[in-house]
Amino acid sequence: MASRRSLLATVWLLILLLLTLGGALVEARPSPSSHAPRRHLWTAGSTASVNNGHYAPAAPSHTTHRKLGEKSGNNKAPKNGIQLDVGSFGAAGDGKSDDTGAFHKAWAEACSSAQPATVLVPAGKSYLLKETSLSGPCKSKVTLKLDGTLVAPDDKSGWGTQGHPKWISFDNVDGLTVTGKGTMDGRGKSSWKRSCRTNHKLPCTFAPAALSFSSCDRLTVEGVRLVNAPQIHVWVESCRDVTLSRLTIASPGNSPENDGIHVSRSDGVRILGARIKAGDDCISVASGTSNLYATKIECGPGHGISVGSLGKGNTRAEVSNVTIDGAHVSGTLYGARIKTWRGGTGYARGIKFLNMVMDKVKNPIAIDQNYCSTSDPNEPCERQQGASAAVQVSDVVFSNIKGTGTNKDAIKLHCSDAFPCRDIVLRDIDLKTKAKRGGGATSTCQNAVLAESTNVSPAPCSTAATKDDLVPRGSEDD
Ligand SMILES: *[C@@H]1O[C@H](CO)[C@@H](O)[C@H](O)[C@H]1NC(C)=O
Repeated sequence: MASRRSLLATVWLLILLLLTLGGALVEARPSPSSHAPRRHLWTAGSTASVNNGHYAPAAPSHTTHRKLGEKSGNNKAPKNGIQLDVGSFGAAGDGKSDDTGAFHKAWAEACSSAQPATVLVPAGKSYLLKETSLSGPCKSKVTLKLDGTLVAPDDKSGWGTQGHPKWISFDNVDGLTVTGKGTMDGRGKSSWKRSCRTNHKLPCTFAPAALSFSSCDRLTVEGVRLVNAPQIHVWVESCRDVTLSRLTIASPGNSPENDGIHVSRSDGVRILGARIKAGDDCISVASGTSNLYATKIECGPGHGISVGSLGKGNTRAEVSNVTIDGAHVSGTLYGARIKTWRGGTGYARGIKFLNMVMDKVKNPIAIDQNYCSTSDPNEPCERQQGASAAVQVSDVVFSNIKGTGTNKDAIKLHCSDAFPCRDIVLRDIDLKTKAKRGGGATSTCQNAVLAESTNVSPAPCSTAATKDDLVPRGSEDD
């Protein structure tokens, strides 16, 4: 007994000794911040200084503000680097004055700063911004801390007449972070009214994307909320190594062409938690995208989570290694979908839709290689019918997908004659239909080669696709 007790005591002593040693080692390691410049150049970022009336409408020199800022000790600016309150650059934050110039000035200073810089948009204020284009390369890491509200003007006429107009756009910024509890209100209503989807007599034009990133590597966007974008809410284009987390997006279900998150020509995009209500796709993964992972997605209303559309206008599309893992999709037109136009070339492969719950989704699972949309008069659907080329769809997994559809046809695999879909895996699928008429849910297939079908209800390809299912048609979405 006694020897066991002393053994125990020795063990305890040893553990204590190790813990102390470990602690000492950690202490001894130089902390990263001890190398960094210890200057605290806070500006008028804190609410205290705003309340103190340092909210100068005219842009004072930043040196003044650094001094002001030093007085407000407890603000949560980064440990090193500078913080630049847009108010110090003349932004009024009254929701009426045009603050675009002030934001451009704050950006210019942040982007040319030798040390990490944070542009602060303080809470409790509303900033009216017109087209705001913030570009790099920047000297150091830049953060946009969006705690307040950004509003777009109602009238966006004359914006970006060439191609896709953008509201707030970042271009060519490496290591950018956009974070905060703030909101971007795109005031899209006026654009939706002018859409050719809403009024068929009007020409089809692109409405502005609310927040776009182009050629931004190592990008982080977290926490912010976007509402009522004129068209796409968040657009990631030609970026590598991107993390989008905890985004909230909200627009009415009938807002035309209104995507939540649109990713194109990008590699290594992670979407970690998003709540998306939109008029079009909650997430659309467009051409040139590889290695995308999305999880914890809440989607609806909207058109679901889509790969595509691909191959429009006989273009080449390449999409590979896309995983949607964990999504709750509710009240949408589609759930898990791949859509390609006739006449396109290239491939969509290595696509996984895993662990999804469908709640009253019109068409829960769909591959549609006859995709066509009425929105563009230059691409009439009739022209697509003769085309035999197609984007090759292969190696697609739908696994653990449960819930309800509102159409009978719960699993549609409608592929091309010339390029049948290959290596399609259906596993652990249980979809019921809410459709009143005739029997339970069905599945239609055309030119789809299944590699596996395990535990799938409705049974895959239970009903032959009718001709109507397979001709290109103008669908109500893009
Ligand atoms: C696929 O993408 C994921 C990121 O979502 C990545 O971790 C993985 O390595 C990629 N797989 C291949 C084969 O490139």
